[in-house]
Amino acid sequence: LFAGPVDFVKGVVAMSGMPPADRLEVCFAGRSNVGKSSLINALTNRKNVARASNTPGRTQEINYFALGTQRYLVDLPGYGYAAAPLPVVAKWQALLKSYLSGRQTLRRAFVLIDGRHGVKDVDHEIMTLLDRSAVTFQAVMTKADKISKVELDQNIDQTRAALAKHPAAFPELIVTSSEKGLGIETLRATIATLI
Ligand code: GTP
Ligand code: MG
Repeated sequence: LFAGPVDFVKGVVAMSGMPPADRLEVCFAGRSNVGKSSLINALTNRKNVARASNTPGRTQEINYFALGTQRYLVDLPGYGYAAAPLPVVAKWQALLKSYLSGRQTLRRAFVLIDGRHGVKDVDHEIMTLLDRSAVTFQAVMTKADKISKVELDQNIDQTRAALAKHPAAFPELIVTSSEKGLGIETLRATIATLI
């Protein structure tokens, strides 16, 4: 699945610009800077097919990537980023919410949680939206290389406890590092069962 071509399809700025819902997709959601774009690059073995950056708020559109001709990976704008102008943030958030609650072909949302920070209030808000929309989601812990094992384990426990409160959450947590390649094969295998 991940060995073939990966092509950027388009950056969507409004629901009217969505590609036709003619194939299955999974998406990557999470707070700004959590590592969504980097994870897509790691999964697809590309350096910068999804543009990653140290500046929070880098991804501002819903970016569609085609895996071969039958599947999409979807990189979402981050949430919880306060520094952009309010009307701009409000527009991304509205788009994100419309997408997460209304895309027929979305098979699962991966909600990325920073290994250093665990689940925050804004993550709960997104998870609650997914619960209400009956979109199954799975948590992926990112940046596992950036924190000690003891602290990582604490945040894993905190995240598992948080997930237990959400009916749409898939219980299994995947721990990753895009930098070191940790958990990437597991996540690829999971995605391959879905799309
Ligand atoms: P927005 O598009 O702004 O919402 O951010 P994003 O979630 O797409 O994050 P992005 O992939 O751009 O990564 C943010 C920063 O974290 C970049 O500087 C990445 O290099 C870094 N980063 C991402 N994943 C990892 C990881 O697994 N380990 C380490 N050490 N750094 C990472
Ligand atoms: Mg991004």
